Amino acid sequence: MPKVSKRIETIPPYLFAEISRIKAEMRAKGEDIIDLGIGDPDQPTPEPIVRYAQQAVENPAAHTYDESPRGWTPFLEAAARWYQKNFGVNLDPNKELLELIGSKEGLSHLIWAYIDEGDGIILPDPAYPVYRIHARMCGANIYDATLDEANGFLPKLEDIPTDAARNAKLMFTCYPGNPTGAVAPISFYEDAVRFCKHHDIVLVCDLAYAMVTYDGYKTPSALQVNGAKDCVIEFHSLSKAFNMTGWRIGFACGNPDAIGALSRLKDNIDSKQFAAIADTAAWALDHGDNSRTMEVYKKRRDVLVHALNEAGWNIQPPKASFYIWAKVPTDETSAGFAKRLLEQAKVLVIPGTGYGPAGEGYVRMSLTVKGDQNGERVAEAARRIAQHAIRSTIKT
Ligand SMILES: Cc1ncc(COP(=O)(O)O)c(C=O)c1O
Repeated sequence: MPKVSKRIETIPPYLFAEISRIKAEMRAKGEDIIDLGIGDPDQPTPEPIVRYAQQAVENPAAHTYDESPRGWTPFLEAAARWYQKNFGVNLDPNKELLELIGSKEGLSHLIWAYIDEGDGIILPDPAYPVYRIHARMCGANIYDATLDEANGFLPKLEDIPTDAARNAKLMFTCYPGNPTGAVAPISFYEDAVRFCKHHDIVLVCDLAYAMVTYDGYKTPSALQVNGAKDCVIEFHSLSKAFNMTGWRIGFACGNPDAIGALSRLKDNIDSKQFAAIADTAAWALDHGDNSRTMEVYKKRRDVLVHALNEAGWNIQPPKASFYIWAKVPTDETSAGFAKRLLEQAKVLVIPGTGYGPAGEGYVRMSLTVKGDQNGERVAEAARRIAQHAIRSTIKT
């Protein structure tokens, strides 16, 4: 067999594939692992959405290639309505929206659409690992914008060196944040839009968790900033909002040139999502309700944060996302602490370094816990963590 490309050789194994492997091995040995690892909604897609899909599949118009330029028209129109309802921003479905086969696909391909060898890209650190992997495969010159807790896990734009800003073509942000669970105020987007316009950078905003919010918090959008369409492309997903990770559907919206560039690349790669799925997603955007799912996460969030704080940890409940990003409460590294939790407490958490060097000192816990009905599995996880991993070693 010929050797694979250098590009492929340089990428590490996908973080979650590695974690799934270790978990499967331990479970095969009969261990009762509580998985606070991968952020994949454990609740099923709401039944009305599934019922709609059943009849959508029977429509012969959905069985062929979708030859529309930017995706299934009813889906793009529903996305525009949903956007107006949630953010008060008008989008033109013909120029400012693009259907995606999940937002991961779109975020990755946008990098391929813009970055040549040596081009600059500004990435948050820590961040969803997909941005970095594609930036590396494209040979980008990466500037890591560190997200410090002291700054609310927002990048300090004033700390980005002028050379890095001048060279950059793309700057990524992700709020509500994975892995940090942090949220961004609209004033951050005002600054980021100004910064990106000044340096001629496309501001790429990942809003995969826009609908995963608690206690009445409403996620803002960079596109709400005056003149943002000059430089912003935003990515949305139905995965987390409606427990539809397996359906692979999302959309990009915003600057028509960025949408056009991504669309041009995708036209030569995929032939769009199955139209019955896009049609169902349109129905979900118009009628879907995630309040029941959010009640489940909120219960788990409150149970877990309360129990871990009782055990001596010091964790703030997130306003959004289903992640708890917690400082390692001992003198161990992130990886060392996570390994010990897995071995001793049989609880799987992700070491912060999986999301970039600035993740050192943190672990991420996901509230998407399979088999948890009413907070009892997360309570058990907290009990085991307290018993095996914290009490004897807690920092003073
Ligand atoms: C920050 C972030 N963006 C994007 C995605 C991709 O979601 P999807 O491709 O299912 O839309 C994920 C998935 O975990 C994520 O955490």
